[in-house]
Amino acid sequence: MWSLIFVVISPALAWNTNATDTLYPEEVPTKPYYQGYQLPVGSKHATPRNIEYGGYNYCSMPHPHIDTYELPAAILNGSVRGSMAGLTYIQRHQKRTSYHTYQDEDIRYDCSELVPFLFGENRDSTGLLNAAIPVHDYVYTPDSNPYVSSGYVPHGSCQFPQLTIGGLEDGFQHGRDLWNVYGDKMGIIPAVPSLDHIWLRRSNKDLTAQTAGGVLRGLWPNHNETLPIHQQRAEVDTIGSNYPCEKRDKLKKDLKKTDIWKEHDEFMVPVLDELHKTVFGESDYKYEKWSDTFQSRLCNGYPLPCANSTSCASGNAAAQVFSGEDWEFYQQYIADPNAAEYARLKVGLLVGEIIDQLKETVYNHSSVVYRHYFAHDGDLAPMATTLGLQTMKQPGMGINIAVELWKVEAVDDNESEQIPLPPITNQNEHYVRVLWAGAPIRSKLGNLEWIKFDEFVDLWSKSVPIDIVEECKVTK
Ligand SMILES: *[C@@H]1O[C@H](CO)[C@@H](O)[C@H](O)[C@H]1NC(C)=O
Ligand SMILES: *[C@@H]1O[C@H](CO)[C@@H](O)[C@H](O)[C@H]1NC(C)=O
Ligand SMILES: *[C@@H]1O[C@H](CO)[C@@H](O)[C@H](O)[C@H]1NC(C)=O
Ligand SMILES: *[C@@H]1O[C@H](CO)[C@@H](O)[C@H](O)[C@H]1NC(C)=O
Ligand SMILES: *[C@@H]1O[C@H](CO)[C@@H](O)[C@H](O)[C@H]1NC(C)=O
Repeated sequence: MWSLIFVVISPALAWNTNATDTLYPEEVPTKPYYQGYQLPVGSKHATPRNIEYGGYNYCSMPHPHIDTYELPAAILNGSVRGSMAGLTYIQRHQKRTSYHTYQDEDIRYDCSELVPFLFGENRDSTGLLNAAIPVHDYVYTPDSNPYVSSGYVPHGSCQFPQLTIGGLEDGFQHGRDLWNVYGDKMGIIPAVPSLDHIWLRRSNKDLTAQTAGGVLRGLWPNHNETLPIHQQRAEVDTIGSNYPCEKRDKLKKDLKKTDIWKEHDEFMVPVLDELHKTVFGESDYKYEKWSDTFQSRLCNGYPLPCANSTSCASGNAAAQVFSGEDWEFYQQYIADPNAAEYARLKVGLLVGEIIDQLKETVYNHSSVVYRHYFAHDGDLAPMATTLGLQTMKQPGMGINIAVELWKVEAVDDNESEQIPLPPITNQNEHYVRVLWAGAPIRSKLGNLEWIKFDEFVDLWSKSVPIDIVEECKVTK
């Protein structure tokens, strides 16, 4: 299944630096929050693509794509020959409904086209009589329920924060694009999802299952059986950092008490007051989750919120909320002096699990070479911190980290350029390349575009807690 790579390759498209630059804002805006900041652009169905692929696109972040994918420079320039020996892919779910809703929300979220299935199958089932019926949900919000008719929850057919139909379609596309690069071109994703070669995992939330179903279908259009996805117990899941950790929680609280964060809160006050007046008039109803509301509306083709036909949230107000949210991610995961420590306690156990799996592939010759994790921005953001990401905006829908494992050997200068590689032997060295949103990650830690496996493991292991229980204690 490993495809051999030839030394001479037709010129590949360079990573589009102009587009990629938008993933790395030199400065994340602070004061005053930008009006005219770029708003997420979406529609009910699949997310429209940026003209130049590879740029920041909140509703569907870029991922490895055959048009922009490039081999590592060391292989392209012929100084080594090699082939891909493993891929660990960690992604956020695709676009979704919101987590939060407010009273008397003025739209009906429609999920009638995305049908969520959940049922327990009898593993030993041999025939119809013992097999469960594949039941699916049908969400409805009848007026006979007083909490619906009083506006406590919005009408509609979605179980928040479920995936939307557009999110599923983006998932199909995400999977097809990954297949083109890592299946068809690199040969590391197998044509048939045999459990000898692949390993899947997701969070314990429904929307990562809904995402996985889409992305995996994009990879394997003809697969006609079920696939197991690993999941940890919700109370201790290392995706989502669900285990108790007092110090992690304290660091987050302390961050909100820093002067710079308080200053940020003050800048946001007039923006949020204005929004409140626009949507709720003089009511003293409290609602603060505007960023969540705006992204789920804009990414899925719904309008910004209105109180009535003449009073609607403006694009400028939404832009200010988004730029404020970008600043919060930047501050929490990049700029804050405790960012690395926070990330270590939040995502370090998961990083440790991934490192152990990579070691199994490299040292123990595990046949599992492709691993795919379906997770959340609360996992991807701190994981990017552990990889030394230089700067960050909100990691949008489908944001992804690809850890590529390469097996290489030195090139004999005297060899003809077109001779295919000899069979790979165990003495070859392993290298790692890390991609963020489909392009080589720009890391403060060093050159993660091409790093020896052992060095990479040493570097990344610094973010793995040695004794999480001890490290989570708060010393008074
Ligand atoms: C090829 O690329 C690698 C990685 O960027 C670099 O270290 C090496 O010097 C280059 N070799 C040549 C011959 O250009
Ligand atoms: C499923 O796919 C396999 C391999 O392509 C094929 O042999 C088999 O007949 C298919 N089964 C069904 C129920 O379609
Ligand atoms: C529309 O809503 C705004 C904000 O609640 C309110 O100030 C305004 O009077 C309303 N206009 C009409 C025509 O109801
Ligand atoms: C490799 O296999 C050995 C022997 O089975 C085991 O002790 C070791 O923990 C494994 N190492 C990894 C990284 O899986
Ligand atoms: C290339 O071949 C020449 C002549 O056979 C030999 O002298 C030289 O050492 C070789 N170079 C390498 C790098 O193997």
